[in-house]
Amino acid sequence: MGRKERREPRLAARLLEPGPVVLVTTHYRAQPNVMTAAWVIPLSLEPPRIGLAVHPSRLTHELLTKGEFFTLNIVTIEYLPALHLCGLLSGRDTDKFTRAQLHPTDALETDVPVLEEAIAQIECGLAARLSLGDHDLFVGEVLAVAADSELFGDRWLHLEEAPLAHHVGGEWYAALARVYRARLPDEEETEAEDHEASGR
Ligand SMILES: Cc1cc2nc3c(=O)[nH]c(=O)nc-3n(C[C@H](O)[C@H](O)[C@H](O)COP(=O)(O)O)c2cc1C
Repeated sequence: MGRKERREPRLAARLLEPGPVVLVTTHYRAQPNVMTAAWVIPLSLEPPRIGLAVHPSRLTHELLTKGEFFTLNIVTIEYLPALHLCGLLSGRDTDKFTRAQLHPTDALETDVPVLEEAIAQIECGLAARLSLGDHDLFVGEVLAVAADSELFGDRWLHLEEAPLAHHVGGEWYAALARVYRARLPDEEETEAEDHEASGR
C-alpha cells in the first residue's frame, strides 16, 4: 500500500462507486464514536455531497445531529471483524475503537477522528437532514478526501488484491473478485482486469 494523499472532493463519489461498507466516525464534545454503515450514496458532484441513512436509535444519529460533522472511513476486507463488530455494538455501551482495535487520528479539516486503518477518508459537514422513513438521510458536504495513492487513481485500481467489503446480509459479506472494462456491442470483446481509466 502507498501513502494516503489528499484528493479533490469530487472524487468522494468514485471512492463510493463500488458500494463498500464504511466505518462512520462522529464526534461531539469529548465523545467520539464509530459505526458501520452500508446505506451510503453519492448525491452530487458539484458541490460534492454524500448521503448517509442513519436510524434514530444509533448513538451516531445523536452525535451527527449535535456535532454536524462525520467522516466515512473506507477499509479493506482485512478489517472485516472490526467492520462487523462496529455494526453490532453501540458506542452507548462500549468504546468501539478499543474493542475493534481501531486507531483514531487527526483529520484534515474537521475535529472528527479518522481511522489510521482507513485507506481512504471522506470528511463531511452536515448540509441537510431529511426524514424519509424509519431512517434519516444525513446529507454531507464533502470537505476533504484522502486516498491511498497506490490503490486509488481516479477510481479503485486494485480491487482484486486489496478488496473492499460489500454487505450481503446478516453476517455475510462479499468482495469483488474481478474487474471488467465495459465495451459497446460493436467494439472488441470485454476485457477482464483492464486498469485503463474509463468513461465516467
Ligand atoms: C454491515 C452493516 C451495515 C449497517 N449499515 C447501517 C446503516 O447504513 N445505517 C444505520 O443506521 N445502521 C447501520 N447498521 C447498524 C449500525 O451499525 C448498528 O446499529 C450500530 O450498533 C450503531 O452504533 P452506534 O449506536 O454506536 O451509532 C449496519 C450494521 C451492519 C453490520
